Amino acid sequence: MAETKGGVLTRRGLLVGIGAAGGAGAMYAAMGALGLAPTGQDKEYTPPRQGDFTLSGRASAKVVIIGAGVAGLTAAYELGKAGYDCTLLEARQKPGGRNLTLRAGDRLAELNGPAQDVKFGTGVYFNAGPGRIAQWMVTLDYCRELGIPIETFINNNASAYVHTNGQTVRARTARADMYGYIAELLAKATNLGALDKALTKDDRESLLEFLRRFGDLGPKLDYEGSERRGFTRFPALDGGVPMPDPGTLHQVLAAGTGRAITNDFGYEQATPMFQPVGGMDAIATGLQQAIGQDRIKTGARVTGITTLDDGVEVTHTGGILKADYCIATLPPHLLAKIPHNLGAPITAALSTPVPIAAGKIGLEYGRRWWELEDRVYGGVTETDLDITHIWYPSHDYHAERGLLVGYYNTERAAELYGALTPEDRRRRALTQGKKIHGEKYRQNLLSSVSIAWERQEHIQGGWVRWPSFDSSFTLLQRPAGRVYFAGDWLTHLIAWQAGAMESARGAVTQLHRRVLQSP
Ligand code: ALA
Repeated sequence: MAETKGGVLTRRGLLVGIGAAGGAGAMYAAMGALGLAPTGQDKEYTPPRQGDFTLSGRASAKVVIIGAGVAGLTAAYELGKAGYDCTLLEARQKPGGRNLTLRAGDRLAELNGPAQDVKFGTGVYFNAGPGRIAQWMVTLDYCRELGIPIETFINNNASAYVHTNGQTVRARTARADMYGYIAELLAKATNLGALDKALTKDDRESLLEFLRRFGDLGPKLDYEGSERRGFTRFPALDGGVPMPDPGTLHQVLAAGTGRAITNDFGYEQATPMFQPVGGMDAIATGLQQAIGQDRIKTGARVTGITTLDDGVEVTHTGGILKADYCIATLPPHLLAKIPHNLGAPITAALSTPVPIAAGKIGLEYGRRWWELEDRVYGGVTETDLDITHIWYPSHDYHAERGLLVGYYNTERAAELYGALTPEDRRRRALTQGKKIHGEKYRQNLLSSVSIAWERQEHIQGGWVRWPSFDSSFTLLQRPAGRVYFAGDWLTHLIAWQAGAMESARGAVTQLHRRVLQSP
């Protein structure tokens, strides 16, 4: 099981245990064939169009979509383009699923826990679910199409901190030291001839030339510190006061700060990333508006799914809905519990992915001390504490108030926080954050809200992990009778809205093809 690498969410870790990732290549190819491959699929995807029916003289079909999260909303939106008659059944009171932005006046209920009333100031919001979008993700295409303005999400800030083994340093310092010492070691090994078998003379010179710059090495190829480490007083009229010299290689390695330099190395986390202006829920809201609110039934919990020769029947707490097709987008572990006639292998496949706990706390402060005192404008502090990360806001700089994400953790750490009362979660988050920022972390706090996704009714998990991308995964990418499945959990983009959207597009493509081909 490899959810994280050095506390950082990794792409592979999110998907499967490391050992099981080998089969992903073949699966990826299979997904491509089905039109489900995440990368570049937007180029191939052709949304259903009105003309598909008017030109062929056929009628569009009636589709019931279970779940109005990002996958369900995307499916309804895309089918709507061709005039399909879609109805979304959403068990929660509000559509959007994990695309949840909390603002003043909201109330966040929790399974087996007290509800929290959100008391943020005007304009302050907390993206309790997704919070960042990579440039290549289809999510940005929907922002463009729906007219949702976006702004930069700062995923990597040299001025943010790394806190490991009880020590706090700026990310730039950690980076300078790790790069510096790695460059020194490699340069010396090169000069000692240790790499002669792998390098020509010209290679050696090129490598040394690069390493000098990479590590800011001295004339003898020693790393002796560098202005890259930062300053204790910034340079201006004089040269400022640079940071003291680095510790030894041994001390730097023992401090464990190296993790700070790899956060945005991953394909999904590479900087710059983006966020909708004003809150991530602009995406859910935009999709809802395009679909039409009258097509979304909230508070409708599905209690049965029956596929028939000529349609589907979905029973829910508000009645029975008959349609030609169904797209089921609930988390698989919840879908597995709904009585259906799709067969035991479907239940078994739906029961295979393992739900993963994930939690966040939003801490609203009356003073943006991270900007005023620490000169941190956006970005993420990485820690080996149970809070894992602190996110600084990438918007509304210099406003009076601001909201930090005081923890964003998964698995055991998330379960630990999730089991606490909201007050105790806050207390613990503040105690941990104080280790990095000092006493000011506890001052000027106005309010807070925390979410434990495994305790959110009708969701019950941050995301899921497949033990391996086996036949269960592929089985669910095909329809069971007249029922299709969609969600981030059916893609290689688990825990991303882009996964939900790509999956929805895949289901829509298959369904539409079938409708066009049906007699
Ligand atoms: N999409 C999740 C994140 O950005 C994993 O942290």
